Amino acid sequence: MSEFLGGWKRTCYCTDLTTEDVGREVILMGWTNVRRDLGALIFVQLRDRTGLMQVVFDSSTLSKEDFDRASTIRSEYVLAIKGKLSERTGNMVNKNMKTGALEVLVSEFKILSTSETTPFEIDDNCNASEALRLKYRYLDLRRPVMQQNLMMRHKIAHIARNYFSENDFLEIETPILTKSTPEGARDYLVPSRVHPGSFYALPQSPQLFKQLLMLSGFDRYFQIARCFRDEDLRADRQPDFTQIDLEMSFVEEDDVMSVNEGFLKLLFKETIGYDVQLPLPRLPWSEAMARYGSDKPDTRFGLELCDITDCVRDCGFSVFKGAIETGGSVRCINAKGASAQFSRKEIDALGEYVKTYHAKGLAWMNWKEDAFQSPIAKFLTETELDAIKAKAGMEPGDVVFIVADKDPVVFASLGALRLKLGDKLGLIPQDKYNLLWVTDFPQFEWSDEENRFMAMHHPFTSPKDEDLQYLESDPGAVRAKAYDIVLNGVEIGGGSIRIHSQELQKRMFRVLGLSDEQVNDRFGFLLNAFRFGPPPHGGMAYGLDRLAMLICGGSSIRDVIAFPKVQNASCPLTGAPDTVDPKQLKELHIACVTDEE
Ligand code: AMO
Ligand code: AMP
Repeated sequence: MSEFLGGWKRTCYCTDLTTEDVGREVILMGWTNVRRDLGALIFVQLRDRTGLMQVVFDSSTLSKEDFDRASTIRSEYVLAIKGKLSERTGNMVNKNMKTGALEVLVSEFKILSTSETTPFEIDDNCNASEALRLKYRYLDLRRPVMQQNLMMRHKIAHIARNYFSENDFLEIETPILTKSTPEGARDYLVPSRVHPGSFYALPQSPQLFKQLLMLSGFDRYFQIARCFRDEDLRADRQPDFTQIDLEMSFVEEDDVMSVNEGFLKLLFKETIGYDVQLPLPRLPWSEAMARYGSDKPDTRFGLELCDITDCVRDCGFSVFKGAIETGGSVRCINAKGASAQFSRKEIDALGEYVKTYHAKGLAWMNWKEDAFQSPIAKFLTETELDAIKAKAGMEPGDVVFIVADKDPVVFASLGALRLKLGDKLGLIPQDKYNLLWVTDFPQFEWSDEENRFMAMHHPFTSPKDEDLQYLESDPGAVRAKAYDIVLNGVEIGGGSIRIHSQELQKRMFRVLGLSDEQVNDRFGFLLNAFRFGPPPHGGMAYGLDRLAMLICGGSSIRDVIAFPKVQNASCPLTGAPDTVDPKQLKELHIACVTDEE
């Protein structure tokens, strides 16, 4: 028999109890959320992972010794209480609490543990800084919102496991200590003790192994997999994160999408009761860019981009003309009816904002009721202005924002501006979950830095059959059998049909400018495997953290990760990364060189 619990067993969680249980003897265990001492009565809100229950210590029913003991209870003390469930009446009912019509009259109790004053209040509305909350993450996690977030995350993982298992996917683990995988970020390396100078890489994804599992004949695989990427952190990026990863054999794009649409429909119904309409919309990448300036468009609102290149092709404004002559375009966004909402100062601030996306400036036309204002009007003819107005559907009361540049800059800056305008103008409905596929990604993107084509997804993604003919002659025109799944402007997953022909894989590496030696060194084991009957296969992976963030209504994946890292990839709780004992370094054959200033 436990010394601490004295054989007591919890009968239920706080919020399992309803008015139907009134009169029952219950045993509850949890933390002291709030304590109010009214002299002869002490009220404590007891908190467990499900929520709160008011428990009452009454001096007229407890012995003096017990009541004196109850007077010592403070916030975050851990209690076990035994008592009768009663109904609260009249104005004692707390409508803001799930169990607000109930309370337990304590007959016996144990103080299982005491607590020092916590560095911040354990409350959803606590205004402690994130740095402090992350330093004491174990206390932060006591807050009801964090408990609910992690329970929801569990539910999502559980639904995924069930769904994919029921659809004949096998859960198979792949190694963490492995060789570099090609997802395009930097690797985290682990030095080998027994192989001096050699390193494992932590997997950026299980990509290569899941393809090998297809070759082995497992046919359908899934895994809730930890992935590691050393990249710049943002609200939706962590150095270690989790994927719901899957792969299937003998499939085309439609097969992968349809099994995943089934998953998404079930997931949204079972987590938040939202009915996803199937089939999901599909938007080719080129259309997503042209309409939204983004490969992960938030389709909950309009403000679509409009191409006005043809209206200004021969104009006298050197900025527009120059952009067009160097192969770029001129595009705009019409903020309908928003003319009065932008002061000159605000428009200037938007001009600065698009510069962060490398736009050289932001031209605009503000058609106020009493005047037409535009810093570029003087460079354009009446006909050109009329053509822009007609193409952009501009009417009095509208304000139009224009960027001229190379397409990638125009899309990035107007895509970001669109989100900012949508937010400012209150156009983004918060109760919608717009899921869509973005398809037909380019196979390659040009890297100025590397001076070569790079794989946009990864080098194992298959080109579209009809574009294979351009692989060598015009790589930029080749589209891939790749697809991303996007939710409210966030890329929650992505995948592709893979190359299963050795010949094609070799051609691909050649276009990517990788020498046979480099290929052999990095992916030789995969190419070798492909000599032995690889089936056609494809798959995808979801970012579980991002899915959970959106389903929980959070704005950062840190809200749905128990122990996340901060911006500079450190962990305020443990202090990782940290220096290690010189002895350990020696064993690992590592000498640290401090960067010279
Ligand atoms: P990809 O690199 O697109 O594809 O990753 C799949 C999904 O993982 C999530 N994700 C991240 N989440 C949090 N922090 C990060 N640093 C991070 N990086 C990616 C995103 C993304 O959509 N092996 C391929 C999948 C495949 O082809 O099957 C892959 O990893 O939500
Ligand atoms: P300027 O004559 O250079 O002062 O430019 C006139 C207007 O055009 C200003 O409002 C600039 O912000 C804008 N502008 C400059 N470069 C660009 C560009 N690449 N695309 C759109 N507008 C621009």
